[in-house]
Amino acid sequence: MAKRSTKKKSLRVAFIGSGGIAGAHMRYLSKMDDVEMVAVADISKPSMAQRQEEFGIESAFTDYRKMLRDVKPDAVSVCTPNGLHAVASIAASKAGAHVLVEKPMAMTAAEAQKMITAAKTARRKLVIGFQYRYDAKTKFIKDAVDAGRMGKVVYGRIQALRRRGIPNWGVFGRKDLQGGGPLIDIGVHALEMTHFVMGSPKPVAASGSIFTYMGNKKSDVVSQWPNWDYKNYTVEDLAVGQIRFDNGAVISIEASFAAHIEENVWNFTLMGEKAGASWDPPGLFSDDGGYMMNSQPNWLPSGANADAFGMKMRNFVEHCLYNTPTLAPAEHGLMVQKMLDGIYASAEKGREVAIR
Ligand SMILES: NC(=O)c1ccc[n+]([C@@H]2O[C@H](COP(=O)([O-])OP(=O)(O)OC[C@H]3O[C@@H](n4cnc5c(N)ncnc54)[C@H](O)[C@@H]3O)[C@@H](O)[C@H]2O)c1
Repeated sequence: MAKRSTKKKSLRVAFIGSGGIAGAHMRYLSKMDDVEMVAVADISKPSMAQRQEEFGIESAFTDYRKMLRDVKPDAVSVCTPNGLHAVASIAASKAGAHVLVEKPMAMTAAEAQKMITAAKTARRKLVIGFQYRYDAKTKFIKDAVDAGRMGKVVYGRIQALRRRGIPNWGVFGRKDLQGGGPLIDIGVHALEMTHFVMGSPKPVAASGSIFTYMGNKKSDVVSQWPNWDYKNYTVEDLAVGQIRFDNGAVISIEASFAAHIEENVWNFTLMGEKAGASWDPPGLFSDDGGYMMNSQPNWLPSGANADAFGMKMRNFVEHCLYNTPTLAPAEHGLMVQKMLDGIYASAEKGREVAIR
């Protein structure tokens, strides 16, 4: 009788992009005994060499297509600037790999749709790197919404505001390579988690405006990251927008790299027919026994149990190896992308636009 193999399944993961966020992916994956980090591809040899040394990754390629052909990884982390998310993910799907693509899913919804088609055709998984939906505060509010404690959630107000934080690394100021500025780069985090806790309703219309008044000029203002590349800065400093959903709910969003405000804000607030909620500090606002009540959780998971990024990485591995569900399916990424597209399109046209 053939002996049953006791060898544990393992996922052979490769990386496209070896910069800042790839380093975070590698740190988490390197601690998992059912993952092998088999190859890295980047146009920067020094960046790859550093990651190889740090994590003992055997092979490195300056052409990710060659890496996909030669290494045939089971899964790929796409950690490039946004402009390459779609082409790299599609190539990886076609090469037979599952894909974890960093946020935002792509530069546009049209790209995101092509990524979904490619993954479906190849029967491979496609997951979006939305770690905020694994956050303990997000779960606290999502549980309240799902249990009906908020009633119908009619409004979500999002603020992802930096007073002065234009990135001075990478290509975050380049609209052609990133698709936009703070809205698509940091607003997307707060937008994806708010939309998620609201039950992922279908967006139907968007309106918005964008403003650029600081990033594209030489400036001696104080900034947490000085000397950004103002000459190639083609994105907004501040975006404001509103999304309407098919269930009548509304989200408003403000996102900035630079804004004249008292301090940075990173939060969302929900208003429901029975109760409201805030993300940070996490709290619920309701009526009880004839009083207006504010309640905070006395305890939320902390440490490794609240490490949202770690949970996103672990979820991807288990989704690939054991087919467990993911909280961040590509279809959610596509809806988020449609909202971002809608706000940018509305800003350009100067009127509300339909989202289909
Ligand atoms: N989930 C999060 O919290 C989070 C945080 C930061 C960044 N991100 C996302 O991760 C992505 C990368 O951001 P980053 O901060 O790591 O940027 P980065 O600039 O540090 O790294 C990007 C890397 O991609 C490489 N690259 C460029 N063109 C390439 C190509 N053709 N083939 C292979 N590699 C190529 C660059 O050389 C660089 O090493 C972005 O989409 C960003 O939005 C997510």
